[in-house]
Amino acid sequence: MTILPLEHPRLGVAYYPEHWPESRWPQDATLLREAGITVARMMEFAWDKLEPRPGEYHFEWMDQALEVFQKADIQVVLCTPTAVPPPWFVVEHPELLRVDDRTGQRTVAGSRRFACANVPAYQEAANGIVTAVAKQWGQHKNVIGWQIDNEFGCHSSTRCVCDYCRAAFQQWCEQKYGNLDALNAAWGTQFWSATYTDWTQIPVPAPSTAAHNPSLLLDYRRFSSDSWVNFQRRQIEVLRREIGSERFITHNLMLKFTDIDYFELARDLDFVSYDNYLHGMSGPAEAAFNLDLMRGLKNRAFWVMEQQPGPLDWTPFNPPVPPGQVRIWTHQAIAHGAEAVCYFRERAVNIGQEQYHAGIMKHDGTPDRCWYEAKQVSEDLAKRPALHRPQAPVALMFDYQDSWTLELDPQNREFSYYRLALEIYEQLWEANIPVDIVPRDADLGGYEAVFVPSPALINEKHTASWRSYVEVGGRLVVMFRAGFKNQGNTWTDQPMPAGGLSDLLGVTVDEFISIPPIPAVGMRSPRETAMDWNDERGMHVAEVASNSSGFGLPMSTRSRYNTWAEILKPTSAEALTRYADGYYKDGIAATVNHVGKGAAYTVGYWGDSVIPRLIWQALDLKRHEIAERDSNGTLEVVRLQDEAGNTVELRFNHNRRTLVMPEPAR
Ligand code: GAL
Ligand code: ZN
Repeated sequence: MTILPLEHPRLGVAYYPEHWPESRWPQDATLLREAGITVARMMEFAWDKLEPRPGEYHFEWMDQALEVFQKADIQVVLCTPTAVPPPWFVVEHPELLRVDDRTGQRTVAGSRRFACANVPAYQEAANGIVTAVAKQWGQHKNVIGWQIDNEFGCHSSTRCVCDYCRAAFQQWCEQKYGNLDALNAAWGTQFWSATYTDWTQIPVPAPSTAAHNPSLLLDYRRFSSDSWVNFQRRQIEVLRREIGSERFITHNLMLKFTDIDYFELARDLDFVSYDNYLHGMSGPAEAAFNLDLMRGLKNRAFWVMEQQPGPLDWTPFNPPVPPGQVRIWTHQAIAHGAEAVCYFRERAVNIGQEQYHAGIMKHDGTPDRCWYEAKQVSEDLAKRPALHRPQAPVALMFDYQDSWTLELDPQNREFSYYRLALEIYEQLWEANIPVDIVPRDADLGGYEAVFVPSPALINEKHTASWRSYVEVGGRLVVMFRAGFKNQGNTWTDQPMPAGGLSDLLGVTVDEFISIPPIPAVGMRSPRETAMDWNDERGMHVAEVASNSSGFGLPMSTRSRYNTWAEILKPTSAEALTRYADGYYKDGIAATVNHVGKGAAYTVGYWGDSVIPRLIWQALDLKRHEIAERDSNGTLEVVRLQDEAGNTVELRFNHNRRTLVMPEPAR
């Protein structure tokens, strides 16, 4: 059982001394400290001020800022400033400008994240500035840790197709496959005459006349993800030498982001940090999902390095944030495993690209609402006992490589691995059932149920460990599009799902069906249920009836599905659900296979409620459900434990209207 330490949650801020006159810093630091802020993150975009000319370092101003914050009793997290190399460097090394894989165009400088991770000059320069700042402040007593760079992959800048990337990719391929026969076989290059006889012939996926080979594309995703993992690793090596093991190293990760394998990126960090921008998400459930994913990356507490403080400047409408909301967001993050929540940023800025973005203070330097709410939160936390988060009863698997293969060839524009995982999570969240998000190779011991969204890539080792979990009594729920792609992103020649999965699940997939979107979701016309695949509107609405004897059951036991459906052929499994119309009416849609002491469920369709009713009932997760609930699904209840092992319930009213809170659980 994992117990996460939530004893000392603290509040922080992103502070940019370079944006304000030095004379203002002491007042800022005092004001922030008054709101209960005890940590400030600095320097991630300050390379130009730290090294205004090649090799000419100016560190006095940061020395000064560190002193001011130390005096105010605010500790500091410093960042390596590599997210934006300064203009003089770009002029010296224009080759660092990335070539976008979506347009094939070389980008221009002037914003941020325009540099390619594989350009040697940029790597060397990063190495240089990191060494310099680490030597300067690595042992500073008020600097408690470091953030590497800032949000790798922000602004969709993960994949570059420049000449350096091409050479690096060719090398990466050589290292991975050893010889070209192996690569040609793994990629199926015989298709469209693409057999490679020399490593230098391997192209990068810049826009071409038609699609690139999907095997190359999947490896390019892996390569691009690795490029940033390695970029980070090189910095960590330099830093670690200077700062020793006492101080932490982290990086700030993004919501809804799947371009980098975050499990890999997290491996080299002491803990991950996360940037929590609620208005970039659909609601509190998606926020909780992303927070739980962050906790799951290393199965430990994390930091929120940037917390939305008020209105943003980068969503379509940037709505207001009602009073009290920032306080709830902060507590929600802590309840899901954040050890620190740092607001972005100290003050709404009067210069540059983000002038509409709220801060703790207003443009005029007086406290904004966030200031008062931060103060309130720090008072709340002072009153709270030390709390831990116990292992959840349910695990949800998340895998970046599965998401990539499905994204590269979705077959249905609406298909999204992220959305599928989120919908599973949401259904559990709405019932207030705690969830741990785990990698594919996680130790599943202790979980009552494990959900696996579309494990597309075949991995026999994973299947074997899932089988062991089921044999001793676990319940595994595997969703459609499972086990059909080899690691090279070619289709298996075995019945789906392959790699031992069909054995474990007791089914094979007879046919898979992509379902075009239904224009009026939620609308029912008498025509709809009778509608067939060949309907002239190209829609397909079929109903799922529960259990094998259930044809013609009343409407209420039926449900709708979208996007994807598979007709299952049981080998040893029992049918749970069948399709109620369409040309495959009566076809089996969901099954259970009893294996050892446990059960392996297969869900062949994407239901409007993604975990089918019968499976939900069989899993009996209701025991973890909080009985009294707000009808709108916006009351979130999180149960933590105090040091004596007593349950402490935290309740979040994510709704605007007042809720009458249920009696606390005993
Ligand atoms: C983050 C970024 C910050 C700032 C913020 C605005 O993605 O790390 O530097 O741009 O968004 O919301
Ligand atoms: Zn590049």
